[in-house]
Amino acid sequence: MKALILSGGKGTRLRPLTYSGAKQLVPVANRPILFYCIDNIVRAGIRDIGIIISPETGAEIRETVGSGSRWKAKITYILQDTPAGLAHAVKTASKFLKNSPFVMYLGDNLIGRDIKKFVEDFGRKKADAMILLKEVDNPRQFGVAEVGRRGNIIRLIEKPEDPPSNLALVGVYLFSPMIHKAVDRIKPSRRGELEITDAIQELILMGRPVKSFVLDSWWLDTGKKDDLLTANAIVLDEWCRNGIEGTVDRASKVLGRVMLSPHSVVKGSTIRGPVVIGDNTVIENSFIGPHTSIGDDVRIINSSVEHSVILNGSEVLNIERVEESLIGKRVKIFRNNGHKAFRLMVGDDSVVEV
Ligand code: G1P
Repeated sequence: MKALILSGGKGTRLRPLTYSGAKQLVPVANRPILFYCIDNIVRAGIRDIGIIISPETGAEIRETVGSGSRWKAKITYILQDTPAGLAHAVKTASKFLKNSPFVMYLGDNLIGRDIKKFVEDFGRKKADAMILLKEVDNPRQFGVAEVGRRGNIIRLIEKPEDPPSNLALVGVYLFSPMIHKAVDRIKPSRRGELEITDAIQELILMGRPVKSFVLDSWWLDTGKKDDLLTANAIVLDEWCRNGIEGTVDRASKVLGRVMLSPHSVVKGSTIRGPVVIGDNTVIENSFIGPHTSIGDDVRIINSSVEHSVILNGSEVLNIERVEESLIGKRVKIFRNNGHKAFRLMVGDDSVVEV
């Protein structure tokens, strides 16, 4: 069994953050989203992993993820020249995949459970594809399945105007090598892409067994700011532990689960977990509320921040309330005068003066 992680794409929904970096590397609880995908694949016992990269962000992905040695895995990078669709990515990876069954995992998807059981089930059930489904409120934004009474898939449609159900395709799929035959038979969709949804539909038309599984945990397609903040909150709830390695002065209070990296300093502040704070960061005379992730080299002075993600090198100075905000790298936000809560989505290298 191999794994293929898709880590190309333009990340248009997370602009401006993704102008300067890959969407799969945007951190959730201070770790790139992509790392959670690799964790999950490795926990399922798969160590031969291909990662599809694009010319724009490939170098950054390679540099961040490396050889895979930190997961005791072997990672092969595969360049996809154009973002021509998920099925096109499978085609591009055919030399790597050879005749092996594989898990395909979209590198910007986070799911709240291990895929180990799906991988084992797939081995037992002798299907040519197994897809994960999840009930959603907005099926028009996804691939959608029409499911028969016995859980059999009748039809799959990509981004339907009139969805036959509210069961969306989660970005984790299992395939036998038969998928390559199906990919060879499909044509580009209306948006000009070779859709994996169409390739799976083709398998159904070819009479091949396609199984589905309705996911019983949370699933986040971290394409947008609010999804990312939700993912951050859920991951902090489940993963954050107590770990104060930095310095907290006597005038400060740390409540709940807070992780503070070794060279960071908290002075005269209250931190209410779950909160994770990176390295070389200073929090002074401030309140940091639950579900907040703060990166490395950040300064938060005379401010209050909660339910937010702040990336490396940013500063928040004299801001009474920042909430539900996603702040990029090296952003500076400071107050001259006035007072109200602000809701911000600010890209890398921005300056916001209020
Ligand atoms: C892709 C798939 C879609 C699936 C979604 C899950 O959409 O085409 O079927 O439901 O991922 O994240 P995209 O995010 O590329 O628009």
